[in-house]
Amino acid sequence: MRDDQIGEILVQPDQLQRRVRELGQEISRDYEGRNPLLVGVLKGAIFFLADLMREISAPCEVDFMAISSYGSSTASSGVVRILKDLDASIEGRDVLIVEDIVDSGLTLAYLMRNLGARNPASLEVCALLTKPERRKVDLAPRYLGFEIPDRFAIGYGLDHSERYRNLPYVAALEQ
Ligand code: IMP
Ligand code: MG
Repeated sequence: MRDDQIGEILVQPDQLQRRVRELGQEISRDYEGRNPLLVGVLKGAIFFLADLMREISAPCEVDFMAISSYGSSTASSGVVRILKDLDASIEGRDVLIVEDIVDSGLTLAYLMRNLGARNPASLEVCALLTKPERRKVDLAPRYLGFEIPDRFAIGYGLDHSERYRNLPYVAALEQ
């Protein structure tokens, strides 16, 4: 795709594929015999989730949440509204939240509190990307794909005003 707004490539398709496979293997080992529930956060995480789930050899299930964060388009406020909740109860389940990117960490901190209050057997996070420089809350995902610099990332699910989710790599937005 030729586009002036697509800047430097941060993660190449083959790096994504390799890392997602490794994460899938790690999760398969850790959750052996436990039937985890993968909770995808719409919309950005679905690309990563779909690839990750096919690398998990253990039985697992999937559900989705849609949330919107109040704030500007490039910075989250941590005040989160649930637009679509999970279809089923997670009480007693081994829940693994699958996120596209952890930026300030505020959205994830809210989700951890919200889902944690529903009494899951366990609650962990698998995030494809993290921007550690931007973190505002102390939060370390159990599973992590890549650390990226403090740039606005697009592609492989990540959008800028709903565009660029279909790029097969992660790039920096040229602003
Ligand atoms: P946080 O609450 O600041 O951690 O923001 C998390 C959410 O903001 C992510 O789930 C993304 O949807 C969005 N986000 C944060 N950084 C980026 C980025 O670089 N590109 C695209 N979306 C981003
Ligand atoms: Mg998002």
